[in-house]
Amino acid sequence: MDKIKIHGGKALEGKIFISGAKNAALPLICASLLTDETITLTNVPMLSDIKAMNDLLTQHGTKINEFDDFVDGHSTKTYSYRTKEVESFVAPYDYVRKMRASYYVLGPLLARYGKCELSLPGGCAIGARPMDIHLSSLEKMGAKIEIKNGYIHANVDGRLKGAHIIFPGVSVGATCNVLMAAVLAEGRTVLENSAKEPEIGDLAKLLNAMGAKISGIGTAVLTIDGVEKLHGAVHKVIADRIEAGSYAVAAAITRGRIELINAQIETLRRPIQVLRDMGVNVEETETGLIVDAKGCELTGKDIMTEPFPGFPTDLQAQFLALMMTAKGASMVTETIFENRFMHVPELLRMGANINVHGHASAIVRHVDKLSGAPVMATDLRASFALVLAGLIAEGETVVNRVYHLDRGYEKLEEKLRSVGADIVRVKEDEE
Ligand code: UD1
Repeated sequence: MDKIKIHGGKALEGKIFISGAKNAALPLICASLLTDETITLTNVPMLSDIKAMNDLLTQHGTKINEFDDFVDGHSTKTYSYRTKEVESFVAPYDYVRKMRASYYVLGPLLARYGKCELSLPGGCAIGARPMDIHLSSLEKMGAKIEIKNGYIHANVDGRLKGAHIIFPGVSVGATCNVLMAAVLAEGRTVLENSAKEPEIGDLAKLLNAMGAKISGIGTAVLTIDGVEKLHGAVHKVIADRIEAGSYAVAAAITRGRIELINAQIETLRRPIQVLRDMGVNVEETETGLIVDAKGCELTGKDIMTEPFPGFPTDLQAQFLALMMTAKGASMVTETIFENRFMHVPELLRMGANINVHGHASAIVRHVDKLSGAPVMATDLRASFALVLAGLIAEGETVVNRVYHLDRGYEKLEEKLRSVGADIVRVKEDEE
């Protein structure tokens, strides 16, 4: 397995181009299953999760073409997806276990063909992550759902039926899945207590470009008037707010200055507010953001994760790392996932002063310095928090299990090196 080696101590300075959002691209790719025409997605990030989703769709029968592209000043990928006929209605265990977001094939396949067999994803490092909200909502639309041998067997006679659904909890995945099912259902579906994450707005925008009739985009109540058929469309994936927030913290934690080109301010209001409250200068520009912490003395702030527009759980680990360098104590509270402080024991090994209380909160106290160490994390965002710690630690930090980072950070070492970080990837066979 590859490793990342970092020598800390450099204030990062320069520009970083923000890539297309992984969490937007994954459901957008699955939306292509809703039509027999071509869906073209531009600004798709080059990530292992995207490759995994493309592999899954290929086994379902989708023909995928990949093109090199240049969007908003940086090189990226454009993909075209065409599913004339589905060859397999099964999303097998071997695909789903590698990437939970494979469950986004469920809504589209059920809506277009009336059947899908999906391996149940099971829990993961950050929590149990059940699919009960997805499934009960699809049942309200007329689907018959059975769980057998670790698989969800979903069927419907004819088309799904529009329904009035009040989600019992706010779920990004369930909102996307049910939205994709509702666009081809018979009649009107109203989804109350929908998640409002920008990635859902991006999905709704593509679906409307394909001929769907969705209103209330960006609000908690989505109204969908089902149509019989959808057509092809071209769509640009929105910028990755979590990547942008992660590099904003890289600027702040190293007391550097990074311009985040293509960052979308409206998707980052809460994290920007926290950075400003801590004493970081954040300037909004026409092309993105400038995060400037040069010469700043930062003060700790309490943060609590919440559904959008609240503070994102996917930036909790990175901000927790930043709090280690801020004056005083900061309380970090996690409300979305039940096991999301797995980075803390590794940070403690680098000299951090953090107390985790139960599974819900952590008190982070200021430390004067961290020292480099071999570390590893169990999930994507926690791994980035360890990279951040490595950027300020004395000596060498070796981050293991780099495959977590490759799932969600495009060209990570290249981007950090371009702003002055001393960071290299060591291939397994170079050891
Ligand atoms: C998505 C993101 C993930 C992010 C999360 C919360 C993708 C591919 N992943 O994950 O990066 O951290 O949103 O912003 O976009 N829940 C249930 N039953 C369900 C569905 C969810 O209890 O049927 C619970 C989950 O266990 C969790 C909470 O609801 O505690 C929120 O989960 P959800 O918003 O669904 O997260 P994901 O879509 O899995």
